[in-house]
Amino acid sequence: MRNLTNKAFNTRTVHAGEGVDFGQLNPVVSPVYPSVGYTYADSNDLDAVLGNERPGYVYSPRYGNPTVAAFERAIANLEGGEAAYAFASGMAAIHMALLAAGVRANTSVVAAADVYGATYSLLQNVFTELGSQIHLVDVTDLTTVEAAVSRSRPVALLVETISNPLMKVADLPRLAEIAHAAEARLLVDNTFCSPYLCNPIRFGADMVIHSVTKLIAGHGDVMAGIVVTTAALRAELMRLNKLLGGSLGPFEAWLAMRGLKTLGLRMREQCGHALELARWLQTHPKIKQVHYAFLPDHPQYALMKSLSEGKGAGAVFSFEIDGAGREQVFAFMDALRLVQPATSLGDIYSLVLYPAISSHRALTRAVRADLGIGDGLVRISVGIEAVADIQADIESALSVI
Ligand SMILES: Cc1ncc(COP(=O)(O)O)c(C=O)c1O
Repeated sequence: MRNLTNKAFNTRTVHAGEGVDFGQLNPVVSPVYPSVGYTYADSNDLDAVLGNERPGYVYSPRYGNPTVAAFERAIANLEGGEAAYAFASGMAAIHMALLAAGVRANTSVVAAADVYGATYSLLQNVFTELGSQIHLVDVTDLTTVEAAVSRSRPVALLVETISNPLMKVADLPRLAEIAHAAEARLLVDNTFCSPYLCNPIRFGADMVIHSVTKLIAGHGDVMAGIVVTTAALRAELMRLNKLLGGSLGPFEAWLAMRGLKTLGLRMREQCGHALELARWLQTHPKIKQVHYAFLPDHPQYALMKSLSEGKGAGAVFSFEIDGAGREQVFAFMDALRLVQPATSLGDIYSLVLYPAISSHRALTRAVRADLGIGDGLVRISVGIEAVADIQADIESALSVI
Protein backbone atom coordinates (compact mmCIF):
# COMPACT_ATOMS: atom_id res chain seq x y z
CA MET A 1 0.00 0.00 0.00
CA ARG A 2 1.38 3.45 -0.86
CA ASN A 3 2.21 5.74 2.05
CA LEU A 4 -0.15 8.70 1.80
CA THR A 5 0.31 10.21 5.24
CA ASN A 6 0.06 14.01 5.03
CA LYS A 7 -0.39 13.91 1.26
CA ALA A 8 -2.60 16.47 -0.52
CA PHE A 9 -6.06 15.72 -1.96
CA ASN A 10 -4.92 15.46 -5.60
CA THR A 11 -2.12 13.09 -4.62
CA ARG A 12 -4.54 10.89 -2.73
CA THR A 13 -7.14 10.76 -5.55
CA VAL A 14 -4.40 9.30 -7.78
CA HIS A 15 -2.80 6.88 -5.31
CA ALA A 16 -5.31 5.97 -2.57
CA GLY A 17 -6.47 2.35 -2.70
CA GLU A 18 -3.66 1.33 -5.08
CA GLY A 19 -0.47 -0.59 -4.45
CA VAL A 20 -1.77 -3.85 -3.01
CA ASP A 21 0.90 -6.57 -3.10
CA PHE A 22 -0.24 -9.11 -5.70
CA GLY A 23 2.84 -11.33 -5.38
CA GLN A 24 5.05 -11.41 -8.46
CA LEU A 25 3.06 -8.84 -10.39
CA ASN A 26 2.91 -5.29 -9.09
CA PRO A 27 0.57 -3.34 -11.35
CA VAL A 28 0.53 0.46 -11.09
CA VAL A 29 -3.27 0.39 -11.47
CA SER A 30 -5.46 -2.09 -9.57
CA PRO A 31 -6.76 -4.69 -12.05
CA VAL A 32 -10.35 -5.79 -12.63
CA TYR A 33 -11.10 -9.09 -10.86
CA PRO A 34 -14.18 -10.58 -12.51
CA SER A 35 -13.86 -14.03 -10.88
CA VAL A 36 -16.82 -15.02 -8.71
CA GLY A 37 -14.96 -17.88 -6.98
CA TYR A 38 -11.49 -18.08 -5.35
CA THR A 39 -9.59 -21.24 -4.45
CA TYR A 40 -7.32 -21.85 -1.45
CA ALA A 41 -4.43 -24.23 -0.71
CA ASP A 42 -6.63 -26.43 1.45
CA SER A 43 -10.07 -26.56 3.03
CA ASN A 44 -8.82 -25.17 6.36
CA ASP A 45 -7.81 -21.96 4.56
CA LEU A 46 -11.17 -21.73 2.84
CA ASP A 47 -12.93 -22.39 6.15
CA ALA A 48 -10.95 -19.59 7.85
CA VAL A 49 -11.86 -17.08 5.13
CA LEU A 50 -15.53 -18.09 5.14
CA GLY A 51 -15.57 -17.77 8.93
CA ASN A 52 -14.03 -14.24 8.74
CA GLU A 53 -10.99 -15.49 10.74
CA ARG A 54 -8.63 -14.28 8.04
CA PRO A 55 -9.07 -11.86 5.14
CA GLY A 56 -9.71 -13.21 1.68
CA TYR A 57 -12.26 -13.54 -1.07
CA VAL A 58 -14.69 -16.40 -1.56
CA TYR A 59 -17.75 -15.34 -3.54
CA SER A 60 -17.44 -12.12 -5.41
CA PRO A 61 -18.62 -9.36 -5.35
CA ARG A 62 -21.42 -10.15 -2.85
CA TYR A 63 -18.91 -11.32 -0.20
CA GLY A 64 -16.25 -8.78 -1.28
CA ASN A 65 -14.03 -8.26 -4.33
CA PRO A 66 -10.42 -7.00 -4.64
CA THR A 67 -11.21 -4.33 -7.28
CA VAL A 68 -14.17 -3.05 -5.27
CA ALA A 69 -12.03 -3.11 -2.11
CA ALA A 70 -9.42 -0.87 -3.79
CA PHE A 71 -12.15 1.66 -4.62
CA GLU A 72 -13.53 1.46 -1.07
CA ARG A 73 -10.09 2.14 0.42
CA ALA A 74 -9.65 5.14 -1.86
CA ILE A 75 -12.95 6.77 -0.87
CA ALA A 76 -12.47 5.98 2.84
CA ASN A 77 -9.10 7.74 2.61
CA LEU A 78 -10.50 10.80 0.83
CA GLU A 79 -13.43 11.13 3.26
CA GLY A 80 -11.22 10.56 6.31
CA GLY A 81 -13.25 7.54 7.45
CA GLU A 82 -12.11 4.20 8.88
CA ALA A 83 -13.73 2.12 6.14
CA ALA A 84 -16.16 2.18 3.24
CA TYR A 85 -18.59 -0.21 1.55
CA ALA A 86 -19.59 0.17 -2.10
CA PHE A 87 -22.98 -0.61 -3.63
CA ALA A 88 -24.55 -0.93 -7.05
CA SER A 89 -26.14 2.55 -6.84
CA GLY A 90 -26.50 5.58 -4.62
CA MET A 91 -30.02 4.43 -3.70
CA ALA A 92 -28.73 1.01 -2.61
CA ALA A 93 -26.16 2.83 -0.44
CA ILE A 94 -28.84 5.02 1.20
CA HIS A 95 -31.12 2.04 1.82
CA MET A 96 -28.30 0.02 3.39
CA ALA A 97 -27.03 2.94 5.48
CA LEU A 98 -30.52 3.35 6.97
CA LEU A 99 -30.73 -0.37 7.74
CA ALA A 100 -27.23 -0.42 9.26
CA ALA A 101 -28.18 2.58 11.42
CA GLY A 102 -30.95 0.41 12.87
CA VAL A 103 -34.04 1.64 10.99
CA ARG A 104 -36.74 -1.02 11.47
CA ALA A 105 -40.45 -1.15 12.30
CA ASN A 106 -41.30 1.12 15.25
CA THR A 107 -38.12 3.16 14.97
CA SER A 108 -38.10 6.67 13.62
CA VAL A 109 -36.01 8.70 11.23
CA VAL A 110 -35.78 12.48 11.01
CA ALA A 111 -34.86 13.54 7.48
CA ALA A 112 -34.52 16.70 5.45
CA ALA A 113 -37.82 17.38 3.68
CA ASP A 114 -35.97 18.27 0.47
CA VAL A 115 -33.87 15.10 0.09
CA TYR A 116 -33.49 13.68 -3.42
CA GLY A 117 -36.90 12.53 -4.77
CA ALA A 118 -36.15 8.79 -4.68
CA THR A 119 -34.77 9.06 -1.12
CA TYR A 120 -37.98 10.86 -0.17
CA SER A 121 -40.07 8.05 -1.69
CA LEU A 122 -37.87 5.35 -0.10
CA LEU A 123 -38.58 6.89 3.30
CA GLN A 124 -42.21 7.87 2.77
CA ASN A 125 -43.28 4.72 0.92
CA VAL A 126 -41.01 1.72 1.57
CA PHE A 127 -39.87 2.44 5.14
CA THR A 128 -43.29 3.78 6.19
CA GLU A 129 -44.98 0.65 4.78
CA LEU A 130 -42.53 -1.44 6.80
CA GLY A 131 -43.58 0.36 10.00
CA SER A 132 -40.89 3.05 10.46
CA GLN A 133 -41.95 6.58 11.41
CA ILE A 134 -40.54 9.28 9.17
CA HIS A 135 -40.42 12.93 10.25
CA LEU A 136 -39.50 15.44 7.56
CA VAL A 137 -38.01 18.78 8.57
CA ASP A 138 -36.47 21.89 7.05
CA VAL A 139 -32.82 21.21 7.84
CA THR A 140 -31.96 24.92 7.77
CA ASP A 141 -34.34 25.50 10.69
CA LEU A 142 -32.27 24.03 13.52
CA THR A 143 -34.90 24.76 16.20
CA THR A 144 -37.43 22.61 14.33
CA VAL A 145 -34.84 19.87 13.75
CA GLU A 146 -33.92 19.85 17.45
CA ALA A 147 -37.60 19.67 18.47
CA ALA A 148 -38.31 16.80 16.02
CA VAL A 149 -35.24 14.87 17.19
CA SER A 150 -35.91 15.25 20.90
CA ARG A 151 -39.62 14.41 20.43
CA SER A 152 -39.25 11.34 18.18
CA ARG A 153 -35.87 9.97 19.44
CA PRO A 154 -34.88 8.74 15.95
CA VAL A 155 -32.20 6.15 15.25
CA ALA A 156 -31.03 8.29 12.32
CA LEU A 157 -30.97 11.91 11.20
CA LEU A 158 -30.55 11.95 7.40
CA VAL A 159 -29.50 15.12 5.56
CA GLU A 160 -27.77 16.15 2.33
CA THR A 161 -24.78 18.51 2.62
CA ILE A 162 -26.19 20.53 -0.29
CA SER A 163 -29.79 19.80 -1.19
CA ASN A 164 -31.36 19.81 -4.59
CA PRO A 165 -32.64 21.80 -6.43
CA LEU A 166 -32.59 24.84 -4.10
CA MET A 167 -29.00 24.28 -2.93
CA LYS A 168 -29.73 24.59 0.78
CA VAL A 169 -26.70 23.81 2.95
CA ALA A 170 -26.84 21.65 6.09
CA ASP A 171 -25.07 22.91 9.21
CA LEU A 172 -23.24 19.61 9.79
CA PRO A 173 -21.47 20.48 13.09
CA ARG A 174 -24.74 21.62 14.71
CA LEU A 175 -26.73 18.71 13.24
CA ALA A 176 -24.17 16.24 14.61
CA GLU A 177 -24.59 17.76 18.09
CA ILE A 178 -28.38 17.54 17.83
CA ALA A 179 -28.29 13.92 16.61
CA HIS A 180 -25.75 12.74 19.17
CA ALA A 181 -27.54 14.43 22.08
CA ALA A 182 -30.47 12.09 21.28
CA GLU A 183 -28.19 9.09 20.58
CA ALA A 184 -29.14 9.16 16.93
CA ARG A 185 -26.67 8.64 14.11
CA LEU A 186 -26.06 11.44 11.62
CA LEU A 187 -26.19 10.17 8.02
CA VAL A 188 -24.98 12.65 5.42
CA ASP A 189 -25.56 12.29 1.69
CA ASN A 190 -22.48 14.17 0.46
CA THR A 191 -23.12 13.59 -3.27
CA PHE A 192 -23.27 17.28 -4.27
CA CYS A 193 -19.94 18.08 -2.55
CA SER A 194 -17.89 14.96 -3.27
CA PRO A 195 -14.97 14.40 -0.86
CA TYR A 196 -13.23 17.35 -2.57
CA LEU A 197 -15.45 20.05 -1.04
CA CYS A 198 -16.39 18.66 2.34
CA ASN A 199 -15.64 15.69 4.61
CA PRO A 200 -18.68 15.33 6.91
CA ILE A 201 -16.92 12.87 9.26
CA ARG A 202 -14.73 15.79 10.37
CA PHE A 203 -17.91 17.55 11.50
CA GLY A 204 -19.31 14.54 13.37
CA ALA A 205 -21.18 12.48 10.73
CA ASP A 206 -21.45 8.75 11.49
CA MET A 207 -22.06 7.68 7.90
CA VAL A 208 -21.27 9.53 4.69
CA ILE A 209 -23.11 8.43 1.56
CA HIS A 210 -22.35 9.17 -2.08
CA SER A 211 -24.08 8.54 -5.33
CA VAL A 212 -20.76 7.70 -7.02
CA THR A 213 -22.69 7.92 -10.31
CA LYS A 214 -22.25 11.70 -10.04
CA LEU A 215 -19.10 13.70 -9.26
CA ILE A 216 -16.87 10.87 -8.04
CA ALA A 217 -17.09 8.77 -11.23
CA GLY A 218 -17.72 11.96 -13.17
CA HIS A 219 -18.07 10.70 -16.73
CA GLY A 220 -21.72 9.69 -16.93
CA ASP A 221 -20.90 6.06 -17.69
CA VAL A 222 -21.18 4.17 -14.41
CA MET A 223 -23.77 3.79 -11.64
CA ALA A 224 -22.50 3.18 -8.11
CA GLY A 225 -22.90 4.21 -4.49
CA ILE A 226 -20.76 4.10 -1.36
CA VAL A 227 -21.03 4.52 2.42
CA VAL A 228 -18.01 5.70 4.44
CA THR A 229 -18.16 4.93 8.15
CA THR A 230 -16.50 3.17 11.09
CA ALA A 231 -15.04 -0.34 10.79
CA ALA A 232 -17.84 -1.62 13.05
CA LEU A 233 -20.62 -0.13 10.93
CA ARG A 234 -18.91 -1.35 7.77
CA ALA A 235 -19.07 -4.87 9.20
CA GLU A 236 -22.80 -4.38 9.71
CA LEU A 237 -23.20 -3.10 6.12
CA MET A 238 -21.35 -6.17 4.90
CA ARG A 239 -23.46 -8.53 7.01
CA LEU A 240 -26.64 -7.01 5.58
CA ASN A 241 -25.38 -6.83 2.02
CA LYS A 242 -24.40 -10.51 1.98
CA LEU A 243 -28.14 -11.10 2.37
CA LEU A 244 -29.54 -8.24 0.27
CA GLY A 245 -27.00 -8.41 -2.53
CA GLY A 246 -26.83 -4.86 -3.91
CA SER A 247 -23.07 -5.17 -4.49
CA LEU A 248 -21.00 -3.03 -6.81
CA GLY A 249 -19.52 -5.04 -9.69
CA PRO A 250 -15.73 -5.05 -10.29
CA PHE A 251 -15.97 -3.43 -13.75
CA GLU A 252 -18.01 -0.54 -12.36
CA ALA A 253 -15.61 -0.19 -9.40
CA TRP A 254 -12.68 0.01 -11.79
CA LEU A 255 -14.40 2.68 -13.91
CA ALA A 256 -15.36 4.68 -10.81
CA MET A 257 -11.77 4.53 -9.55
CA ARG A 258 -10.47 5.66 -12.90
CA GLY A 259 -12.85 8.63 -12.84
CA LEU A 260 -11.93 9.42 -9.24
CA LYS A 261 -8.30 10.14 -10.12
CA THR A 262 -9.20 13.48 -11.73
CA LEU A 263 -11.83 14.49 -9.15
CA GLY A 264 -9.81 17.44 -7.78
CA LEU A 265 -9.05 18.82 -11.24
CA ARG A 266 -12.64 18.44 -12.41
CA MET A 267 -14.13 19.94 -9.25
CA ARG A 268 -11.90 23.01 -9.37
CA GLU A 269 -13.00 23.70 -12.95
CA GLN A 270 -16.67 22.84 -12.42
CA CYS A 271 -17.02 24.93 -9.23
CA GLY A 272 -15.37 27.89 -10.98
CA HIS A 273 -17.60 27.56 -14.04
CA ALA A 274 -20.76 27.19 -11.94
CA LEU A 275 -19.97 30.35 -9.97
CA GLU A 276 -19.24 32.35 -13.10
CA LEU A 277 -22.48 31.26 -14.77
CA ALA A 278 -24.55 31.75 -11.61
CA ARG A 279 -23.22 35.33 -11.27
CA TRP A 280 -24.01 36.05 -14.92
CA LEU A 281 -27.56 34.65 -14.70
CA GLN A 282 -28.26 36.78 -11.60
CA THR A 283 -27.99 39.82 -13.86
CA HIS A 284 -30.00 38.31 -16.74
CA PRO A 285 -33.35 40.07 -17.40
CA LYS A 286 -35.23 36.77 -17.93
CA ILE A 287 -34.06 35.22 -14.66
CA LYS A 288 -35.96 35.83 -11.43
CA GLN A 289 -33.67 34.03 -8.99
CA VAL A 290 -30.49 31.96 -8.93
CA HIS A 291 -29.83 29.37 -6.22
CA TYR A 292 -26.13 28.68 -5.61
CA ALA A 293 -24.46 28.55 -2.21
CA PHE A 294 -21.37 30.50 -3.32
CA LEU A 295 -23.38 33.61 -4.17
CA PRO A 296 -23.03 36.06 -1.26
CA ASP A 297 -26.82 36.56 -1.06
CA HIS A 298 -27.43 32.82 -0.51
CA PRO A 299 -28.71 32.34 3.08
CA GLN A 300 -26.00 29.76 3.88
CA TYR A 301 -23.11 31.36 2.00
CA ALA A 302 -20.94 31.71 5.13
CA LEU A 303 -21.70 28.14 6.17
CA MET A 304 -20.82 26.80 2.71
CA LYS A 305 -17.55 28.73 2.76
CA SER A 306 -16.67 27.26 6.11
CA LEU A 307 -17.67 23.64 5.28
CA SER A 308 -15.70 23.75 2.02
CA GLU A 309 -12.82 25.85 3.40
CA GLY A 310 -13.54 28.35 0.64
CA LYS A 311 -13.18 25.83 -2.18
CA GLY A 312 -16.65 26.32 -3.64
CA ALA A 313 -20.24 25.12 -3.71
CA GLY A 314 -20.17 22.42 -6.37
CA ALA A 315 -21.07 21.98 -10.02
CA VAL A 316 -24.82 22.37 -9.72
CA PHE A 317 -27.05 25.45 -9.43
CA SER A 318 -30.65 26.22 -10.27
CA PHE A 319 -32.48 29.24 -11.56
CA GLU A 320 -36.04 30.34 -11.96
CA ILE A 321 -37.05 31.64 -15.38
CA ASP A 322 -39.27 34.65 -14.72
CA GLY A 323 -42.96 33.84 -15.29
CA ALA A 324 -42.17 30.51 -16.98
CA GLY A 325 -44.20 27.30 -16.71
CA ARG A 326 -43.73 23.85 -18.19
CA GLU A 327 -44.20 25.00 -21.82
CA GLN A 328 -41.55 27.75 -21.66
CA VAL A 329 -39.10 25.53 -19.76
CA PHE A 330 -39.55 22.79 -22.39
CA ALA A 331 -38.91 25.38 -25.15
CA PHE A 332 -35.73 26.52 -23.34
CA MET A 333 -34.45 22.96 -22.87
CA ASP A 334 -35.23 21.97 -26.46
CA ALA A 335 -33.31 25.01 -27.74
CA LEU A 336 -30.09 24.07 -25.93
CA ARG A 337 -27.47 22.61 -28.28
CA LEU A 338 -24.43 21.96 -26.07
CA VAL A 339 -25.95 21.51 -22.61
CA GLN A 340 -27.57 18.07 -22.62
CA PRO A 341 -31.08 17.52 -21.23
CA ALA A 342 -30.24 14.41 -19.19
CA THR A 343 -31.21 13.13 -15.75
CA SER A 344 -27.93 13.16 -13.91
CA LEU A 345 -25.40 15.62 -12.54
CA GLY A 346 -21.74 16.02 -11.77
CA ASP A 347 -20.51 14.82 -15.16
CA ILE A 348 -17.81 16.37 -17.33
CA TYR A 349 -20.72 17.21 -19.68
CA SER A 350 -23.01 20.13 -18.82
CA LEU A 351 -26.49 18.81 -18.15
CA VAL A 352 -29.86 20.49 -17.72
CA LEU A 353 -32.82 19.07 -15.83
CA TYR A 354 -36.36 20.17 -15.06
CA PRO A 355 -36.96 18.98 -11.47
CA ALA A 356 -40.76 18.98 -11.88
CA ILE A 357 -40.57 16.13 -14.43
CA SER A 358 -37.48 14.29 -13.20
CA SER A 359 -35.73 14.42 -9.79
CA HIS A 360 -38.93 15.64 -8.07
CA ARG A 361 -41.51 14.02 -10.34
CA ALA A 362 -42.63 11.64 -7.57
CA LEU A 363 -43.79 14.63 -5.50
CA THR A 364 -47.16 16.27 -6.07
CA ARG A 365 -47.21 19.83 -7.42
CA ALA A 366 -48.39 21.03 -4.01
CA VAL A 367 -45.50 19.34 -2.16
CA ARG A 368 -43.07 20.80 -4.70
CA ALA A 369 -44.56 24.27 -4.25
CA ASP A 370 -44.28 23.85 -0.47
CA LEU A 371 -40.59 23.07 -0.89
CA GLY A 372 -40.14 26.19 -3.07
CA ILE A 373 -39.76 24.26 -6.33
CA GLY A 374 -41.73 26.41 -8.77
CA ASP A 375 -42.81 25.53 -12.33
CA GLY A 376 -40.12 27.79 -13.82
CA LEU A 377 -37.20 26.23 -11.92
CA VAL A 378 -34.40 24.69 -13.99
CA ARG A 379 -31.28 22.91 -12.70
CA ILE A 380 -27.92 23.03 -14.45
CA SER A 381 -24.95 20.78 -13.72
CA VAL A 382 -21.90 22.47 -15.14
CA GLY A 383 -19.27 20.39 -16.92
CA ILE A 384 -15.69 21.06 -17.94
CA GLU A 385 -16.46 22.58 -21.36
CA ALA A 386 -15.25 26.18 -21.89
CA VAL A 387 -17.47 28.42 -19.80
CA ALA A 388 -18.00 30.88 -22.68
CA ASP A 389 -19.48 28.09 -24.81
CA ILE A 390 -21.88 27.01 -22.05
CA GLN A 391 -22.91 30.64 -21.48
CA ALA A 392 -23.55 31.23 -25.20
CA ASP A 393 -25.71 28.09 -25.36
CA ILE A 394 -27.85 29.16 -22.37
CA GLU A 395 -28.15 32.72 -23.69
CA SER A 396 -29.32 31.55 -27.09
CA ALA A 397 -31.85 29.09 -25.58
CA LEU A 398 -33.23 31.81 -23.28
CA SER A 399 -33.80 34.03 -26.31
CA VAL A 400 -36.48 31.64 -27.68
CA ILE A 401 -38.83 32.28 -24.73
C1 LIG B 1 -28.28 13.59 -3.74
C2 LIG B 1 -28.51 12.24 -4.37
N1 LIG B 1 -28.42 11.15 -3.59
C3 LIG B 1 -28.62 9.91 -4.10
C4 LIG B 1 -28.95 9.72 -5.43
C5 LIG B 1 -29.18 8.34 -5.94
O1 LIG B 1 -28.06 7.88 -6.60
P1 LIG B 1 -28.10 6.78 -7.78
O2 LIG B 1 -28.84 7.39 -8.92
O3 LIG B 1 -26.67 6.49 -8.04
O4 LIG B 1 -28.85 5.60 -7.23
C6 LIG B 1 -29.04 10.84 -6.27
C7 LIG B 1 -29.38 10.64 -7.70
O5 LIG B 1 -29.66 11.57 -8.43
C8 LIG B 1 -28.82 12.12 -5.73
O6 LIG B 1 -28.93 13.23 -6.49
